[in-house]
Amino acid sequence: MNQIPTSKLKEMMIRVAREADAGEIIEIMNQAIDDQKNAYLSALDDESGRVWFESLFKKASSLLVVLMNDKICGWGSLTAYRESRDALSKNVEITFYVHRDYRRMGVGSTLIEHLEKTALENDKKNAVAILLDDNIESEILLKKNGCKVLGHFPKVAYFTNKVCGHFYMWKVLALDHLQS
Ligand SMILES: CC(C)(COP(=O)(O)OP(=O)(O)OC[C@H]1O[C@@H](n2cnc3c(N)ncnc32)[C@H](O)[C@@H]1OP(=O)(O)O)[C@@H](O)C(=O)NCCC(=O)NCCS
Repeated sequence: MNQIPTSKLKEMMIRVAREADAGEIIEIMNQAIDDQKNAYLSALDDESGRVWFESLFKKASSLLVVLMNDKICGWGSLTAYRESRDALSKNVEITFYVHRDYRRMGVGSTLIEHLEKTALENDKKNAVAILLDDNIESEILLKKNGCKVLGHFPKVAYFTNKVCGHFYMWKVLALDHLQS
């Protein structure tokens, strides 16, 4: 994908991530870890960040970044839902993270829109987002985008100051005759 302007804000651009984007992507990931928005318990350091990014870069079928004035302000990915289970290969896991300074500007919505488009182009039928059940902003954003909470594992994530659950939020991207 070439760098293309998105519809919401003139200066917002989206493109495929490059290895050189690792530092900015890890910084955004660490902000979410700090805010307890995912199940990581400690920030990624140079070494764990490098390993985490390499793994994401390799396994993501799509890894996108949103930029404003050349600054990466969000990233999102499509990864296999239940890797290697081929009967499940038409499902995809969707993930998105937005830099603290760029929230409520449409970045998360833009990422979801483009990730879903890419998923459809790759013949995926369903998208799942897996999130902590106290991640209200993601839940609202995903519901706005047509996702429903179809799975809830209560009290499975143990932090030092809280115990919370996991939501599996699901969206049918394309219905086919076999599903009806
Ligand atoms: C959740 C997150 C991705 C939202 O990104 P964003 O760029 O701020 O989202 P958008 O600007 O596209 O918001 C779209 C809508 O989502 C809802 N929303 C987003 N943030 C919200 C918040 N803090 N509180 C309530 N609603 C919120 C609103 O309905 C919003 O529309 P509005 O601004 O017109 O009211 C961002 O807060 C984030 O990165 N959180 C940490 C990482 C994370 O939780 N990732 C999900 C793991 S899968």
